[in-house]
This record gives sequence, C-alpha cells and structure tokens, in this order.
Amino acid sequence: MTVVINMRDGVDKGKLSVAVRFILDGKLVAFPTETVYGLGADALNEKAVRRIFEAKGRPADNPLIVHIARFEDLTMLAREVPDEAELLVRKFWPGPLTLVLPKRETVPDVTTGGLNTVAVRMPAHPVALALIRESTPIAAPSANISGRPSPTLAEHVIEDFYGRIGCIIDAGKTPIGVESTVIDLSSEEPTLLRPGGLPVEKIEEVIGEVKIHPAVRGKMVEVAKAPGMKYRHYAPNALLILVEGPKGEIGEKITALVREYRSKGFKVGVMATRKYDADEFVHLGSTDVEVARNVFRGLRELDKRGVDVIIAEGIEERGLGFAVMNRLRKAAKYRVL
Ligand code: TXA
Ligand code: MG
Repeated sequence: MTVVINMRDGVDKGKLSVAVRFILDGKLVAFPTETVYGLGADALNEKAVRRIFEAKGRPADNPLIVHIARFEDLTMLAREVPDEAELLVRKFWPGPLTLVLPKRETVPDVTTGGLNTVAVRMPAHPVALALIRESTPIAAPSANISGRPSPTLAEHVIEDFYGRIGCIIDAGKTPIGVESTVIDLSSEEPTLLRPGGLPVEKIEEVIGEVKIHPAVRGKMVEVAKAPGMKYRHYAPNALLILVEGPKGEIGEKITALVREYRSKGFKVGVMATRKYDADEFVHLGSTDVEVARNVFRGLRELDKRGVDVIIAEGIEERGLGFAVMNRLRKAAKYRVL
C-alpha cells in the first residue's frame, strides 16, 4: 500500500505530518522538488537509506544527495565549507545547485556510496522544504527506477513505485524539469560533475571559471568522480535516436530518419521544438527552459503511446540546453551528428 497525498494547492500541515511520520520511521517518501521528484529517506539512518537503493535498483556505489532546509545543517554534514561554497550558497540556495564537499562522520557511508565527500543541496520547493524542516535532512535521488527517465509528475513516480514505497506527495508538475547542477568543491579546482537546473554560466559569474569534468560531454570514464556518470541513464523503452548538428540541417535529418524507420515498419515518435509528421509527436517548447521542463515527460509519454523508435531533436548547449543535451546523450542509443 502506498499513500498518495495531494498537495497541489500548497503545503497542508495535517497531510504533511503523515509524510513526516514515514520519514521518521525510516520509510520512503517520494516528494516534489523544483527540479524533479525525489525518493526520500532519513539521510542519517543507514537502514532507511538502504531502502532507497533497493527500491530503485541503484548500484551501491552511486552516492545520494542530502537535502537540507536550514543553512546550519550544511556545517553539520560537511567538514569544510570553502569560500566558493559560501558564495554559491548565499546566492543560489534554496535552488537547483548541489555542492560536493568533504563529509563529516555524521553522514553514513551508505548515503555517500562509500566516498569521503557528501553532496548537499537546499531545494526551492515549498513542499520539499516543509517536509525536511519538520523531519530531518533527507537523502533523495530522483524518484525513478534506476536507468529510467526522471519523474517530473507524480504519475511518473506512481508508474515506477506504487505499492513499493510508503508515500507519494503529489504537487503537480515540477517547475524546472531537469535535476540540479552538481559542482565538486572538495578538490583543488571547482569542477562541474553534472550540468543541471542552474546554468554553469551563472555559477561562473560568482566563482570564476569552472572545470568541466570530461564525462559531462558524454565520454565514458573508467573511475568516475561522480559514480553516476558511468551508468546508462534516463532511457525510455523505445530506441532513442538523438539528432544533433547545425540548426539548418536538423530538420532534413529528422524527416529522413522518420521516413527510413517507418518504411521498415516501425512506429516512430518525434520530440522536437517544431512540428514534424510522424506516428506520434511531442512538442518540447521553443526555449531551453521549456525544453528542460518537457524532456523527461516527452520520453515517458512516447513510451506510453507505444512507439518503437523516438527521434529527439538536439538543442544548443547554452543555459539549460547543456543539461538537456547531457541527459539526451546518456539516454540515446544512437547520436546522429
Ligand atoms: O535535482 C536533483 O538533484 C534531484 C532532486 C531529487 O533533488 N536529485 C537527483 O539525485 O538528481 P540523483 O541521485 O538522481 O543524482 C545525484 C547525482 C549522481 O550523479 C551522483 O553520482 C552525484 O549526484 N553525487 C552524489 N553524491 C556525490 C558525491 N559525494 N561525489 C560526487 N558525486 C556525487
Ligand atoms: Mg537520477
């Protein structure tokens, strides 16, 4: 049995107390954040955190982000908070930014996948903040079965976890649609481990140049700094083909691919920023912000409509486009350049 709590109209104290109870009892609660839905458990309770890995089918060496609601909790979790971290926290929290810092003993090894660092973020969603404030710091990966597209609607969480976790809080669509930006501040140079909801350009305005980890651009690495980098991610059931390249040529490439796969008898779906003729179509919007909001939903939606092949239009890697392209490249079986 899973309790589904409706908080589409904002935080309700009475309903919230049900979810708080689950967290304090070491159970799993899926909750909305401004990026995607998270699958939460008490970050300081080993047994509870283990349940996250079991439910998701997540490899034990892929560490979790600890979500906090009070600035003081950062120093409770992190052994050192360098000046860059101070600056970023002041400017961007609560918000879609995760900082990797040296961890304190307080944080169990299961939470950090055995690493001596901890990833921390303060989410900007009122429901998430209230849940954490009334309970404890919450470890939460995206609330999807490992390898599936991240959830931006409570329906997506229900698809993956109904009957398998204690509680799901439904607050409608998550406003940003891609996960937080992850920056490692535990080594010499600030390093981007995952582009996300906060554009790296904005971060550089505050702390200067940020090194981009090579795995971010889609190259596979042996021993990844963010262990999540080495697994295939976000993939729909259909075969996903990502079409990249100069804007002027993308249209023709997509049209040709649709024709090719349809002639072989496949049902073809397209997700793009402008209309295409195909068996199924999802409009992603026209700006980077809109595409970020719709990209994961588009993948799940086309799966539900039963297509065999999804052809996705690539966008420019600026602003949220960097995160969108990172997710699509990881999800895609093929890239057409
Ligand atoms: O927006 C988000 O960040 C969402 C919401 C729920 O807050 N959470 C999320 O969690 O995306 P997850 O587990 O799906 O992705 C966390 C990423 C992974 O790539 C993981 O490897 C990396 O952060 N990570 C976590 N702790 C780390 C650490 N100590 N060092 C390096 N990378 C870390
Ligand atoms: Mg995830």
